[in-house]
Formats: sequence, structure tokens, C-alpha cells
Amino acid sequence: MSVESEKDLIALGKIGRIVANCLQAMGRVLEPGMTTAELDLVGKKYLEFHGANSAPQLVYNFPGATCISVNEQAAHGVPGAKVLLAGDLVNIDVSAEMDGYFADTGGSFIIPPESDVKLRLCAATKQALELAMLEARAGQPLNKIGQAISLHARKNKLTVIENLGSHGVGRGLHEEPGFIPGYYDPKDKRILKQNQVITIEPFLSTGARNVFDAGDGWTLITNKKFLTAQYEHTMVITNDRPLILTLPA
Ligand code: CO
Ligand code: CO
Repeated sequence: MSVESEKDLIALGKIGRIVANCLQAMGRVLEPGMTTAELDLVGKKYLEFHGANSAPQLVYNFPGATCISVNEQAAHGVPGAKVLLAGDLVNIDVSAEMDGYFADTGGSFIIPPESDVKLRLCAATKQALELAMLEARAGQPLNKIGQAISLHARKNKLTVIENLGSHGVGRGLHEEPGFIPGYYDPKDKRILKQNQVITIEPFLSTGARNVFDAGDGWTLITNKKFLTAQYEHTMVITNDRPLILTLPA
């Protein structure tokens, strides 16, 4: 969507803060021995308490309030009986709707002990998000986002998951301008527009370039030997730095 009014901005800011705080609340309760269903319940209750509706549930009939993806699972993991263990890399993705407005955020967490590989992967992915946001400005080619992400991945000897990416958001969970790749596509001629609402969500991996369906129709996994991290913000494009809507407060 494009922000057209103060009302749009206020409503987006409201749902943005809710998903951001929900993500942090879930990150805080992470501990070995808990199931991903128990973790999801924390998110479900948070969203309900604040009057928000889980977006994956609302839009795709996803069997959970949030997406929880562990280790070789890269995205859209279904909460369930899986028990979290010490050392697990856990990605939590929270998106929700309120009053017809959507926001989407995500982040990867390591349950201690934190291995060097996992720490490096998470730090590099977080930096990739920051670097991509520096390129996200009205009038800039959209492919600058993927260029920044893939350059940073290469510098850190990491790969980019090519079939997962960023997207337009706001009045729907996934909308115009569609899929925004995490790699550089010189043929992509789209230009970022003032007031456009998008996510940026780099998926960096220790070696995988693609995810595939785990067989449950939802969970997207890589080869078992790889790990993937993701950090995601929803933002409004401006002539300067993007206005990030999904900062916890
Ligand atoms: Co998300
Ligand atoms: Co997203």
C-alpha cells in the first residue's frame, strides 16, 4: 500500500508496534524443553490481548498464530509438538492485522549455548537488513535492496535464500510491488516510491540457496546441514531513511 493519510500512518504504526512487541515477548520466554506450540501460544495470547488478528491465520488459514522455524527450517514453520533444545536456532515471524492494516516482522534467536557459526550468521543477517534499509529510498531502484543483501552475504561467506524475500504489505500481508528478491536482479526495473509500505527481510544461510516444502504444505526447509537466519521489518519508504514501523516500544 501507499500511505495516503495520517490515519493510515497511525493505524500502521499501531499494528507495527504490536507485532514488534509480540516478537520480543516470544523471544523472552524461549527456553529449552518448551514446545513450539507453547511458544506460539504466548504470541497468540499477546495478539488477542491487543485486539490483533494473526495474519497468516487470517489470510492463508495457517495452522498457528505465528511461524516458528527451527534450525534447518527457514520459514513458515508450523507450531506443534517439537521440543526446543539448547543451542537451537529459532526463527519467529509475527504478522498481524488490525482495523484492516497489516504489519510483518521476524527475527532469529539462539537458545544458549550460542555457537560461533550461529552468532556470525545472526549478526550478518541483522547487518544485511540494516544495509538494505540504507538503500531503500524513494526514487532508488528496488533491486538495490537485493544487491545490498547479497553483497553483505558474500562478504561474510554466506548465501542468500533466493526463493524467499521481501514484499509489499499494508492492506494485505503480501501485496504490491510483489516479491522483492534478496539477490541482485539487473532486469528488475521497479523503482521505490515515496510512502510505499514494504518489508525488508534478508534470509541468509550457511550454504543453502533455496528452500523446499518439508511435506506438511507449510514448512520451508533447506538441506539439513545448513542453517538460515532472517530479520524483518515493515517500513514506509521516504526521501530519506525508511520509517520503520516494527520497532518494539
Ligand atoms: Co514475516
Ligand atoms: Co514478510
